[in-house]
Amino acid sequence: MAVTSQDVWQDAVVVEARTVARGIRRIVVEPEQPVAASPGSHVDVSLELDGDPVRRSYSVVESVDEGRRLAISVLRTKDSRGGSQFMHTLEPGDRLRMTQPLQNFPLRIGAPAYVLVAGGIGITAIAHMAAVLKSVRADYRLHYVGRSREAMAYVDELEAEHGDRLELHADDESGRFDVPGLVQGAPADAELYMCGPIRLMDAVRRSWAGAGREPSSLRYETFGNSGWFDAEPFTVQVPRLGVRTEVPSGCSLLEALENAGVAMLSDCRKGECGICQVRVLDLEGEIDHRDVFFSERQHNNGGKLCACVSRVIAGQQAAPGGSVLTLDVG
Ligand code: FES
Repeated sequence: MAVTSQDVWQDAVVVEARTVARGIRRIVVEPEQPVAASPGSHVDVSLELDGDPVRRSYSVVESVDEGRRLAISVLRTKDSRGGSQFMHTLEPGDRLRMTQPLQNFPLRIGAPAYVLVAGGIGITAIAHMAAVLKSVRADYRLHYVGRSREAMAYVDELEAEHGDRLELHADDESGRFDVPGLVQGAPADAELYMCGPIRLMDAVRRSWAGAGREPSSLRYETFGNSGWFDAEPFTVQVPRLGVRTEVPSGCSLLEALENAGVAMLSDCRKGECGICQVRVLDLEGEIDHRDVFFSERQHNNGGKLCACVSRVIAGQQAAPGGSVLTLDVG
């Protein structure tokens, strides 16, 4: 399982907030107890939405002056319950409650070659890695994939910093990104690090495995909120505990269960560790598996799901009263 340092919560003050691409704000904070953030690390921010406490994770794009200033970037998502909207209202002088940097996507220095792949807002996790690899004169290539340049943050800065090591791919200019070509073109001894939407990551994982590449040389981090389908509200019930509650489109199944008083285990809250897994007893609807913990066979089996990211959609089996997931926990 990924190593995660223990949460240390602290106050931080916003010192910079600006729009860096369509729907993306860069927010720079000064934490009270600064700690340098290693590449691939993130901070969790504590928010209150509709009276419920929630935490959201944001990759550290940049760690300046031993962590005295940390930059994160926030994409406003349409399914958001208000977390990203709230983050977009922040201005210099505002205060946040956040953790010290947490690490579960470490960069291993010393590989013969690196391929970095960032999809959309995934650049927030990858940009810091690219900067460090440049500073240690590593052999690396940075592939940055997005729908259009105007929706891709930090393009000018990355072009200036990485020159021809950067390969920019905007779907509206060059069509679908060639994932098999990416894997075939990677040096035989390369390690690949990626962060992006689940469709891109799934395609890279399949190509990587299909090419017979070493699984341990493929490392990734998920957004934790990108799925195969748009998020829909659904009902969850836990008969053993007498719990029945709604899961709005902007709230995870895990959060809804916690808010209903169910004692849930969790760690990454991004579909990576499997600690939040629940057992499906009955289902009216279809599961939108959004984790990278279970195998494809386990997803198809449908007996379990990761509550922190996976959801239910109506799909082909829409029930009159809406989708209902019946499960057990623990
Ligand atoms: S908490 Fe890690 S997969 Fe859900």
